[in-house]
Amino acid sequence: MPGEERLTRRASAAAICWSTIFLGGALTAMLLLSPSELGTGQPQVAPKIPRPMWRGVNLGNALEAPYEGAWGVILREEYFRLIREVGFDTVRIPIRWSAHAEATPPYAIDERFFRRVDWAIDQALKHGLTAIINVHHYDELVADPEGHRERFLALWDQIARRYVDRPGTLLFELLNEPHNRLTAPLWNQLLAQALRVVRQTNPTRWVVIGPADWNHVRSLPTLELPKDDPYILVTFHYYEPFPFTHQGAAWVPGSMAWLGTKWEGRQEEKQAIERDLDFAVLWAQQHDRPLFLGEFGAYSRADLPSRVRWTEFVARQAEARGIPWCYWEFCSGFGIYDPRAQRWREELLRALIPLP
Ligand code: BGC
Repeated sequence: MPGEERLTRRASAAAICWSTIFLGGALTAMLLLSPSELGTGQPQVAPKIPRPMWRGVNLGNALEAPYEGAWGVILREEYFRLIREVGFDTVRIPIRWSAHAEATPPYAIDERFFRRVDWAIDQALKHGLTAIINVHHYDELVADPEGHRERFLALWDQIARRYVDRPGTLLFELLNEPHNRLTAPLWNQLLAQALRVVRQTNPTRWVVIGPADWNHVRSLPTLELPKDDPYILVTFHYYEPFPFTHQGAAWVPGSMAWLGTKWEGRQEEKQAIERDLDFAVLWAQQHDRPLFLGEFGAYSRADLPSRVRWTEFVARQAEARGIPWCYWEFCSGFGIYDPRAQRWREELLRALIPLP
């Protein structure tokens, strides 16, 4: 499991000097809702996401495990149907391509695995969901960015070619949570190269990119994006306060000591979250980029009332600022769906998607 260095993202985030920012009022939703010409023609000055994507869920612990099933989740057709039925419009599908590709040139991706991903994408699209596929848990890349650069780019070349004919409601996300030796300067170089590779075949597909240091919200200022590419959706992840959301998480050293941490929804707890989201909005306004909260969630070792309060607060605050979101995750340790009982965890589901 990941997260050996998860703590470092908190530490380095705290080191970023920032001032308190209150924006009041929502960010004009840059993703608003018009159909678009994505997939055809030249880049527009102000491109629009092809379909509203406001509320999504991560299909975590399936295709980004060392092999599908290794972490207890095998994707099923009914999951896509259920997700759509309760009102989500988006799924993010994390994928560990690096475990299914050759180690040497041409770094060919295993055809069977490719077919499995085809299936997952097509299920999402068939059920009317926007689909985001990414490169997830490429641990060798973050440990040795230079040594794996060529392979990373070759993976994107293959993925981009494979899905060139899929509609604009398929989005590519270059890399989940760059960290470790993939520092901000190296990541900024690498993302530009990967984007160039994708653009050779997919000139106007939306590409999701987040900052180094685990896609942390406070790391947004380190992100440098190619200025001439308007089809970039900027992502960040939100797990603050980390000792609350990751208490008892086996992959986070020291997190057992956090067990029992609650989130009561007190004023200062709420304000800390509002400040972080306002920070993201200000960055987005200054850089004229749309935002996407690609992961947030609280692990199941926290008490349920706290999880429900926190989840609802983050989701509503993101929405109030025009930031679409994807909850982490569907049916595993953070899950909103209980796959054994084949039932939604109603309180968490309603925290995300309130009844009308
Ligand atoms: C990781 C997951 C982890 C989650 C919360 C994700 O980015 O890929 O494995 O459970 O963050 O820590």
